[in-house]
Amino acid sequence: MSFLISFEGCEGTGKTTQVTELVRRLNQLNHDVFRIREPGSTKLGDYLRMWLKDETREALSPESEVFLFAAARAALVRDVIIPLLARPSSVVIVDRYIDSTIAYQGYGRGIGLEEIKMVNKISTQGTEPDLTILLDAPVRNGLRRVGSGTQGEIPVRHDKKGTRRFEEEPLEFHERVRSGYLSIAKDEPERIVQVDATGSIGEIADTIWGIVQSKLNLDGKE
Ligand code: TYD
Repeated sequence: MSFLISFEGCEGTGKTTQVTELVRRLNQLNHDVFRIREPGSTKLGDYLRMWLKDETREALSPESEVFLFAAARAALVRDVIIPLLARPSSVVIVDRYIDSTIAYQGYGRGIGLEEIKMVNKISTQGTEPDLTILLDAPVRNGLRRVGSGTQGEIPVRHDKKGTRRFEEEPLEFHERVRSGYLSIAKDEPERIVQVDATGSIGEIADTIWGIVQSKLNLDGKE
């Protein structure tokens, strides 16, 4: 049986680090593990990612944003995720998926949630994660980690230019994204497990490992 696991969370909650750690542990158990990044992991996805994150580009409407993320996701699902899940026992781990669009474009930008769910359904052909790990931490902690310190209420950039569109949104935007994530998690407790991302990397990794083991029924045996 194959599994699709998504990682979600606001900026700087440590998703990428935790995906790396989970991949390492799963590999030790000889699983076929595949790691995917959204948007990205296809030619169209990488191209759109570069464009979306470019702060020198013209501003994009929230509606266009929805469809660009959806276009990247549609390619990813059709060309990568569905074929991988068709294998007998693969674990596909995706860094951001459908809930990012609900949290960022829905709660963050104010697009209707039902409309976004419909677009998500088309782009994924109904392929939902078996498990979603939501890494949650106060917004300020995360922005500090990604180098967007705050001056009063305004996040300011500390590192490289050109790729930081979303991180540079005002604090209130990120607060809306976070509370959006928390309400999605409340609505879908079977699929989404909220993990406190304020502890040490090792502690968080252990918590996630426990959740994944019980979901995949690994029991540490395989
Ligand atoms: P990325 O560098 O992957 O951010 P992170 O390291 O925090 O995952 O950039 C992806 C950005 O795109 C991130 O700020 C969230 C945003 N995003 C959306 O707004 N909607 C979406 O559907 C997806 C997948 C990402």
